[in-house]
Amino acid sequence: MKSLCRILTSCRRTPRLTRFPQGSSVGSQPPRCCCCTGLSRSLKPYYITTPIFYVNAAPHIGHVYSAVIADCLHRYKLLRGYNSRFATGTDEHGLKIQQAADSAGKDPQIFCSEVSERYQHAFQRCSISYTDYIRTTEKRHRKVVEHFWKVLQSKGLIYKDYYEGWYSTPDESFLTPNQVSDSRDSEGSLIKVSTESGHKVEWMKEDNYIFRLSDFRSELLLWLRSNPNLIQPVKFQKLVLQWLEDDLPDLSVSRQKSRLQWGIPVPGDPEQTIYVWLDALVNYLTVAGYPQNHSEWWAVVHHVVGKDILKFHAIYWPAFLLAAGLPLPQKIYVHSHWTVHGKKMSKSLSNVINPLDAAEKFTVDGLRYFLLRQGVPDSDCDYYDDKVVKMCNSALADALGGLLNRCTAPALNPSQVYPCFSNTCFPNNQSESLFGRAVPEDYTLVEAVVALPASVERHFDSFHVYKALEAISSCIHLTNGFVQRHRPWKLDRNDPGDQQWLDTILHVSLECLRVYGILLQPVVPGLADRILSRLGVSLEERNWDSLNFLEKYQGKESALEGRALGPDFEMLFRRLERNQVNARTPKIPTQSNLEYC
Ligand code: MSP
Repeated sequence: MKSLCRILTSCRRTPRLTRFPQGSSVGSQPPRCCCCTGLSRSLKPYYITTPIFYVNAAPHIGHVYSAVIADCLHRYKLLRGYNSRFATGTDEHGLKIQQAADSAGKDPQIFCSEVSERYQHAFQRCSISYTDYIRTTEKRHRKVVEHFWKVLQSKGLIYKDYYEGWYSTPDESFLTPNQVSDSRDSEGSLIKVSTESGHKVEWMKEDNYIFRLSDFRSELLLWLRSNPNLIQPVKFQKLVLQWLEDDLPDLSVSRQKSRLQWGIPVPGDPEQTIYVWLDALVNYLTVAGYPQNHSEWWAVVHHVVGKDILKFHAIYWPAFLLAAGLPLPQKIYVHSHWTVHGKKMSKSLSNVINPLDAAEKFTVDGLRYFLLRQGVPDSDCDYYDDKVVKMCNSALADALGGLLNRCTAPALNPSQVYPCFSNTCFPNNQSESLFGRAVPEDYTLVEAVVALPASVERHFDSFHVYKALEAISSCIHLTNGFVQRHRPWKLDRNDPGDQQWLDTILHVSLECLRVYGILLQPVVPGLADRILSRLGVSLEERNWDSLNFLEKYQGKESALEGRALGPDFEMLFRRLERNQVNARTPKIPTQSNLEYC
């Protein structure tokens, strides 16, 4: 599978995306990868993954949310100078996919390829800059799964036995009797459902291969207890610890071929097919280069997962890894789910949000900003168009766009260069400001922006992207207050003192905008590119090490002072009109039963 970096560039070497072109309209450069920019291969590695997505239905906003979170953390790590690798892809085996292909009347491989392409398309549209895209139907993956199976088997950790128990096909999950409850189907008949997902379960009886999961209970408890921040937010770690307090039965890891053909056959026993979750979880190792070249990447793997698949990633996966003698994940980042007008997205309610439509209505940056600012990992979040419109207008169009527009307008800055800062107008020492023109609130602004990168870093590192965005937003608010307070448009440009102060006000404001532009790159790459391009900030000056806010104030030289601003553009983010958004809403196509099941 070609990585996105290779699709975008002609480079044939192992890629690392340094800049993503979509959404970059001003000052856009061709995309480059690390090999072409001469970045050192000895940079610290970082490996982040999304879950691989089931291809039984088209991508929706919840799927894109998982990918946007991982993309944001990947871009953040690149900015911090890491050699970051970001894997996503599609989960294409199992009963659920077999049934979906059957009901679409399609050959399963063709069916999988069609939906997998839709995921790739949606991700490219939403500026998801993955470096690796994996499909579980690829040969390279099958080989790795077979190898992994043989390792577990050779260690005596898989045995054959008669298995009886509940199975949920929509969740591809085995359930114990106390994870199942009574319910009624649409015709009022009594059925059993998974208490957690609400999906129907069936009683299954088969000869299967069983994994000795119960052997790993105490090791898993030890692992989690000695790494209290491993699963974030921490409430999910507590939940896993609670689950592990209960019995941990052995796990069936195969299905009879007569029931499940669409999967990888058990090595040496073609009458059995490997359980789809074992197959799927191994994708993370396939991308890392297991079994030969995985060590460097595997030591730094971070998984982003939705709350519904926590059990698989925090219990089954580490148990499989322990069994294979492999290191365990560094972090598991868990996010909650999106509802729409308070309801779970479902085809029957026709409330499934198509990410392509949303990106069309709100722009990619608008959508990404909304998801990451409104999405709180601890609890479910509600999505509706008005909320997106309100947030984008207030944060991106008014606060940020207004600030950029004001401070770069030819009316205030006719020479269109980065203006000079005057220490006389804005002395470094507040007590000297009696002679300057800065007021105490201006020093508060400077202090806030100086402290901002560390605060954003802390929030990104602790998986609280929304808090990072709140911190940036509150600094933008302070900067707008600064401009408003000093009304540079009222100053007399013929008076040298006023002109110096005007330049200083603009310099401080542009410095603030430069910092916001750099910090916002992981979240809204296109919009951040437009800010930085307008300010004349080169591609080499956009990483974390270039933040150095207001160097002149600190008595240093500023590389930007006197530099020509970049080309003007109409506006940073066009205000969204509610009615206009509704009128432009494309209807979700319903041409096939692929759509939003
Ligand atoms: N194929 C498995 C994952 C295997 S990983 C080895 C799977 N696929 S999925 O397509 O059902 O879900 C993929 C991701 O999308 C999960 O993280 C899931 O939580 C996320 N979401 C699905 N619906 C969602 C929302 N409504 N809101 C937010 N995320 C949601 O599970």
